[in-house]
Amino acid sequence: MKVLVKKLSYLFLFLLVSQFTSPGRSRHIEESKPCKHLVLYYHDKLFNGTDLSNATSAATANATRLGFNFGMLVVFDDPMTKDHHFLSPAVARAQGLYFYDMKTNYNAWFAYTLLFNSTKYKGTLNIMGADIMSAENRDFSVVGGTGDFFMTRGIVTIRTDTAQGDYYFRLQMDIKLYECYK
Ligand SMILES: *[C@@H]1O[C@H](CO)[C@@H](O)[C@H](O)[C@H]1NC(C)=O
Ligand SMILES: *[C@@H]1O[C@H](CO)[C@@H](O)[C@H](O)[C@H]1NC(C)=O
Ligand SMILES: *[C@@H]1O[C@H](CO)[C@@H](O)[C@H](O)[C@H]1NC(C)=O
Ligand SMILES: *[C@@H]1O[C@H](CO)[C@@H](O)[C@H](O)[C@H]1NC(C)=O
Repeated sequence: MKVLVKKLSYLFLFLLVSQFTSPGRSRHIEESKPCKHLVLYYHDKLFNGTDLSNATSAATANATRLGFNFGMLVVFDDPMTKDHHFLSPAVARAQGLYFYDMKTNYNAWFAYTLLFNSTKYKGTLNIMGADIMSAENRDFSVVGGTGDFFMTRGIVTIRTDTAQGDYYFRLQMDIKLYECYK
């Protein structure tokens, strides 16, 4: 009996040690199984010079002559809604910037925070990535979060839902978080 207990305790010790040293320590993340999943719509109404009350973004640096808006910087405070409608109640705000950064096609780089202040979620998601507009789906990185999204990480897959002229576009943002601590 004593020997068995001793053997078992060695086994237990071995399992405990291997937990912290083996490659099994790195967690296996399945793409199809996010720990949190939200689909929201981002509405960007670029200031056209007169629509002060409805504009949600403005170019703060103009495009250069390199083509495809290269160099144009837009700062935004955009509503995020659960459906396609611009006038639906915003469940979060997207605050940040994008700028065009390609000479041979429309490409932009985004860096922004999603601010949640609702009964469901309070906190932020910090997001960045390349918007390669020629691709149907583009992936941004969720590099961190606060509040209900404490220390999170994940992927935002974006898709252009509509683009109407130069002054309004809407993106579907499929937010998949793979690390959740809350
Ligand atoms: C703002 O949007 C509302 C609703 O779409 C519209 O009725 C109004 O004319 C717009 N105002 C301006 C200044 O563009
Ligand atoms: C800007 O948008 C408003 C509202 O949609 C529109 O009434 C106005 O004519 C537009 N101005 C320009 C310069 O496009
Ligand atoms: C931005 O650049 C465009 C094209 O060169 C020009 O038409 C427009 O007036 C410029 N806007 C500002 C605010 O400088
Ligand atoms: C969140 O919403 C509450 C209630 O509307 C408000 O009092 C508070 O100032 C808001 N906080 C932020 C950070 O916007």
